[in-house]
Amino acid sequence: MFADHGGHRDPDRDASLWRSQASSPDRLANMQMHVIDHPLIAHKLTALRDERTDSPTFRRLTEELVTLLAYEATREVRTAPVQVTTPVAVADGVKLASPKPLIVPILRAGLGMLEGMVRLLPTAEVGFLGMLRDEETLLASTYAERLPQDLSGRQCYVLDPMLATGGTLVDAIGFLVDRGADSITAICLLVAPEGCARLERDLAGLDIPVSVVTAAMDDKLNERGYIVPGLGDAGDRLYGVV
Ligand code: URA
Repeated sequence: MFADHGGHRDPDRDASLWRSQASSPDRLANMQMHVIDHPLIAHKLTALRDERTDSPTFRRLTEELVTLLAYEATREVRTAPVQVTTPVAVADGVKLASPKPLIVPILRAGLGMLEGMVRLLPTAEVGFLGMLRDEETLLASTYAERLPQDLSGRQCYVLDPMLATGGTLVDAIGFLVDRGADSITAICLLVAPEGCARLERDLAGLDIPVSVVTAAMDDKLNERGYIVPGLGDAGDRLYGVV
């Protein structure tokens, strides 16, 4: 299970926050899993799962769902104080702090989540990570990357629709950590318990906060590494079988 890194969330409000303490003292308590419990999210996810949903509708629903998840995922995005002058008086406010957040869609299926994310964070920068899952071994490999060399001080938002075996996300997070990322939040439409366990195991010694924000925790993986009940192959459903 993931442990809480002690952010500003209210555990009573976020009823489905998955929370537990690290089981051994050498594990750093820096991981959170948030399953967002909201009727609109559940409604859109149900339509997304439906095998009769066509690609254009699937793409639209994915974007809408990501915008809703992004609202929760950016709860701790850094801001700096500013003042603005209203027609009546001066008001205290905030703006997004520098360096700007970095959004990292994992190609190919994460691309379908990008529009929904930048709708909420239009001034964020976007980097790309191309990762491929071998359907036989279920191992992930990196085939493309377009990211700043130095991610020091950056809050990174990784977009990957399906946290299945966890291999892709573990590699992606490792990539960003190696470049100095300050905190990492992954937004996933669905997660499997096996992927969560893998993340917990492989990222146990990490000393930066990592969270996963998702619409649902499903039952399990099947023998082909697909999430059950899931929604099938997210990339194929977004873009067709190519
Ligand atoms: N990738 C997908 O697109 N779907 C799954 O169920 C698992 C991995």
